[in-house]
Amino acid sequence: PLVNGTAIFDAARAGHYCVGAFNTNNLEWTRAILAAAQEKNVPVLIQTSMGAAKYMGGYELCKGLIEAEVKSMAITVPVIIHLDHGNYEAAKEAIAAGYNSVMFDGHDLPFDENLEKTKEIVKLAHSKGISVEAEVGSIGGEEDGVIGEGELASVDEAKQLAATGIDYLAAGIGNIHGKYPDNWKGLNFKRLGEIADAVKLPLVLHGGSGIPREQVEKAISMGISKLNINTECQMAFAKATREYIEAGKDLEGKGYDPRKLLAPGTKAIEDTVKETIGWMGTHQVE
Ligand code: G3H
Ligand code: ZN
Repeated sequence: PLVNGTAIFDAARAGHYCVGAFNTNNLEWTRAILAAAQEKNVPVLIQTSMGAAKYMGGYELCKGLIEAEVKSMAITVPVIIHLDHGNYEAAKEAIAAGYNSVMFDGHDLPFDENLEKTKEIVKLAHSKGISVEAEVGSIGGEEDGVIGEGELASVDEAKQLAATGIDYLAAGIGNIHGKYPDNWKGLNFKRLGEIADAVKLPLVLHGGSGIPREQVEKAISMGISKLNINTECQMAFAKATREYIEAGKDLEGKGYDPRKLLAPGTKAIEDTVKETIGWMGTHQVE
């Protein structure tokens, strides 16, 4: 079933575990993520960036596609359709399209404006039973055109954003979108601890691809309840697709048929999602 994220992530924070948030880009991606969650028997969050939603044909199409897949695949685990890193307009559009959850990412606005707009989105979303994620500080690197300086989240600002009534909070704690540079200093556990003490909401770790597992596990034990993964699935898809083509399989039989050509990459995404869910410790659905 489709559900909002509030109870699922509250339970994760209370139980010191984490639920995966995976970005989708198309039909194959959506199926791979849903199949993995169903096999592992865990709740899952499927998110579209603004760019992916544009690529796929808009928020209504994304919502309709995921909803139809949940039905046709007979998915029984809870599924949350979420907008990832939305600006103000995108958050409103996703709410209108019936997403279950939206992130309003106001990190590039002056803080007071981020706060005001977050309040507005919370009011609108909650009137329709939709959950809201907000961002304090910023995530370094680039996620589909959304660029961040990697500014460390302020504890005071985290408290103020939490007080707007949001359901989960993403904080910049040294995490970066995309590949991590060799000289990366690691997650800032001191700041994560301070934020987790001050804010009892589920905390979100963006830039989940490529963080050493021990660091993610420690972060989960400290209050991270939603782990965002995108690049890892993209790289797994690209690698499997490249291998298929380099082995000349697209030239054998009807290997150029898109249903065959896209199958190895789709399987690679499913395997990546299953593996991630496996070590993330997500509690199974009863
Ligand atoms: O919002 C999405 C994520 O933060 C994904 O980050 O591409 O580094 O896994 P990633
Ligand atoms: Zn992100």
